[in-house]
Amino acid sequence: MSSLLLLNGSPRGSRSNSMKMLSRVAEGWERAGGAAPQVLHLAYGVDFARAVEAFGESDVVLLGTPLYTDSMPAIVKSYVEALAPYVGRSGNPRLAFLVQSGFQEALHSRPVEWYFEKIARRLDCAYAGTIVRGGGEALQAMPDQANNRLWERLIGLGESLERDGRFDAEILALTARTERFSPPAAVAVKLALMIPGTQFYWNGQLKKNGAWDRRFAAPYSER
Ligand SMILES: Cc1cc2nc3c(=O)[nH]c(=O)nc-3n(C[C@H](O)[C@H](O)[C@H](O)COP(=O)(O)O)c2cc1C
Repeated sequence: MSSLLLLNGSPRGSRSNSMKMLSRVAEGWERAGGAAPQVLHLAYGVDFARAVEAFGESDVVLLGTPLYTDSMPAIVKSYVEALAPYVGRSGNPRLAFLVQSGFQEALHSRPVEWYFEKIARRLDCAYAGTIVRGGGEALQAMPDQANNRLWERLIGLGESLERDGRFDAEILALTARTERFSPPAAVAVKLALMIPGTQFYWNGQLKKNGAWDRRFAAPYSER
């Protein structure tokens, strides 16, 4: 029976959208006959250290991350860099990834997907594919039953990972949904975002996290 290491790269840890999605993939993995995965959250220091060690002991590793500033949270990048000792080692695990973003269009996450594919090559790991999904923040607000179609697809992807050693291409495409808005849809979204109140949720997040006063901070600008 193959072993699966499930790594959650969200700074939110166990209550993150990434974890909600990863759990469903794990459900499919187990449904197809795989052993219960080891789950580690990179945001927790003890788990991070264990995750580097566990990489070398697993048959398959699935790393999930939210998209942060068109890239990934620092803990995910640090984790990838901590894998340097595994370069050139034989018997590295098969690698699979999940990238989910706030924006709806999947295209925002594609550069991170390409980066992960390249990392798999550099580590001499077989690449099992990357799940890409936009509109991830909606999972915080919506009841679980409202996302049944997404859960079914993620379960299907977990099953294919266990059964075929890689994600099913057809289910990957369905999960990604909108690759890019059509020009009329893009205009409609732009107009909708101009309506006062549409930023209510994110403004609330800034206030809740004590970042409201620094929302226009530009620490790297050369002023
Ligand atoms: C600091 C920060 C930066 C973000 N940057 C992006 C971004 O560049 N593009 C995007 O589509 N979503 C972005 N998001 C939204 C997250 O990707 C989205 O809310 C995701 O579902 C959070 O997942 P989590 O709960 O697993 O952390 C950002 C969120 C935060 C907090």
